[in-house]
Amino acid sequence: MSTAWLNGKFLPLADTQVSVMDRGFLFGDGVYEVIPVYGGRLFRLAHHLKRLHNSLDAVRIANPLSTDAWETMLTELVSRNEGGDQAVYLQVTRGVAGKRDHAFPENISPTLFAMSTPMAASVDIDGVTGISAITLPDIRWKLCNIKAITLLPNVMLRQQAIDGDCAEAILIKDGFAIEGAASNLFIVNNGLVITPPNGPALLPGITRDLILELAANHAIPFREASITQEALFSADEIWLTSSTREISPVTRLDDTVISGGTPGPLWRRIISLYQEYKTAIRKGEAS
Ligand code: PDD
Repeated sequence: MSTAWLNGKFLPLADTQVSVMDRGFLFGDGVYEVIPVYGGRLFRLAHHLKRLHNSLDAVRIANPLSTDAWETMLTELVSRNEGGDQAVYLQVTRGVAGKRDHAFPENISPTLFAMSTPMAASVDIDGVTGISAITLPDIRWKLCNIKAITLLPNVMLRQQAIDGDCAEAILIKDGFAIEGAASNLFIVNNGLVITPPNGPALLPGITRDLILELAANHAIPFREASITQEALFSADEIWLTSSTREISPVTRLDDTVISGGTPGPLWRRIISLYQEYKTAIRKGEAS
């Protein structure tokens, strides 16, 4: 039975309960993080807590815990879930109000929740065949840089991908490819790795940032630049990245075969560097 944490207490996940008057339940009024754990160590925790802070600021919820207090709690949550490889989900909502009213209630405390899910974290690079993706119009709001729990458009888009036998939807806005329904987007063009620049149109992914760091440290040419829909379809490689899926090579996009239908050479290079980084995390040599 997995152990969760709710409003300061550790308890079995099955015993966690939140009021139906919670604004997360009624309005989707809250923010979240998903943090991978490798060998019992939280991956890029400082980056995740910084993004959490930015999301909280953006929706005007005061950060209820200090960075140290978050770290202490999360570390205990991981060890209570037997260390190892897992994904921690962390959520802060505006809290429970006496009545349903769109305006912020006064004097309420946020609802804090965290849980852990087992994660299969080793990648057999030679066994990866690539995923199919579809392009769909980006129907989301204008503040996609906030990691809000209000995910109905993302849910609809991901399901539309699944219904079309695809693993992910790549979202198109004004002729540009932005990101996936729950992942960031990279393409490779003549040896150059390209990902859209951060801004309100997309989530500043922690995996994305690490890939750019790895590219910079290993002399892999990269650029942060907008990707037109045409450039997406003519890319040599397409990757989708997230904390839980790491770096997925796309080998089919709508009806177009990408990268000859197999993961490309730069994907192999970057996923190898990513796995090395995970090994360093496990050994406590990186964070
Ligand atoms: N989602 N873009 C969107 C819209 C996302 O939902 C996610 C991750 C990402 C990748 O961000 P990161 O590398 O920090 O995981 C990009 C998480 C995993 C989720 O909602 O479960």
